[in-house]
Amino acid sequence: MSTVVVTGGAGYIGSHAVKALRASGTVVVIYDNLSAGHRAASLRTGVPLEVGDIHDVERLSEVLRASKADAVMHFAAWLSVGDSVRDPIGYYRNNVSGALAVLQAMVASDARHFIFSSTAATFGNPIETPITEDHPQRPINAYGETKLAIERALPHFERAYGIKWTALRYFNAAGADPDGALGEDHDPEIHVIPRAIDAALGRNSFAIFGDDYDTADGTCLRDYIHVMDLASAHIAALDALRAGGASTSYNLGNGRPTSVREVVDAVERVTSRVVPLTIGPRRPGDPGVLFASSEKIKRELGWRPRLEEIDVIVETAYRWRQSHPDGYPER
Ligand code: UFG
Repeated sequence: MSTVVVTGGAGYIGSHAVKALRASGTVVVIYDNLSAGHRAASLRTGVPLEVGDIHDVERLSEVLRASKADAVMHFAAWLSVGDSVRDPIGYYRNNVSGALAVLQAMVASDARHFIFSSTAATFGNPIETPITEDHPQRPINAYGETKLAIERALPHFERAYGIKWTALRYFNAAGADPDGALGEDHDPEIHVIPRAIDAALGRNSFAIFGDDYDTADGTCLRDYIHVMDLASAHIAALDALRAGGASTSYNLGNGRPTSVREVVDAVERVTSRVVPLTIGPRRPGDPGVLFASSEKIKRELGWRPRLEEIDVIVETAYRWRQSHPDGYPER
């Protein structure tokens, strides 16, 4: 049986993917330096954890060889648009050099299938929506640039070393494991759903970043996709590569534009509490409207989102927050 090594498998999206892989009967090893990931998350997946850094090519190639891995899912990366503007060196080091080190370790072992976590941020300000895979990629921040740099490198790695790849461009990953074992635990938390939930619980203040966008209620439209639906897309993408499918990219969203106000309404419905809020200025670099067409992955791989309702997404996030008000136990 072939093994999948999951870098960043103790992190938010990675741990949910590990859980789904395991449920599908795949042998998995997590490779994570625990700088943002959580030992408790990896323990709860029941999968072995190798504590290691993606920059350590020797170590990672040893793990790939020892586990007889044929595939890597690469989640280990930094993810904040705002931070990437302040610290491009850090972002290029982690997201570009780090991913190159992972690919180098694959070349040094027998792993030839690569599933890459990319992002809607590679598209920059959209010229049309929904955003299809053919939409021009013109990032407007360092985060998007770093992810696009790796997307652009992948065809060269395929030609030279035979690495087959799929780039999955996530829109707004959200929600938590419906079983309640895994969830989102970022420090600091920047994402709108956990921040609005925490505001409803009286744990932080909450501002809507701009209500003067050219949208029906003036707030930004985003495409929230449940983290378990992202996980199932990773499995579908890997199955396709293993079956001999061609390397390609897919956009991953629900295709349902949801405004920040609608997120707040959903949080109020689900929690039966008021979200105290203020209206703040626009956050620099926020496009007004971002939502995906995921028709390509539906058509080619038969993938379907299962938890698409915003209330369901918020409900899973809320249950996680209630049971883990301070995140995973080790903190
Ligand atoms: N927002 C608020 N108040 C907050 C936090 C967010 O109003 O306290 C708004 C933002 O302005 C935005 C929306 O809620 O309109 C969503 O913001 P998030 O920070 O939750 O998510 P982003 O859309 O900014 O970013 C996400 C991922 C990035 C990825 C990007 C791609 O976190 O990694 O989607 O579109 F690059």
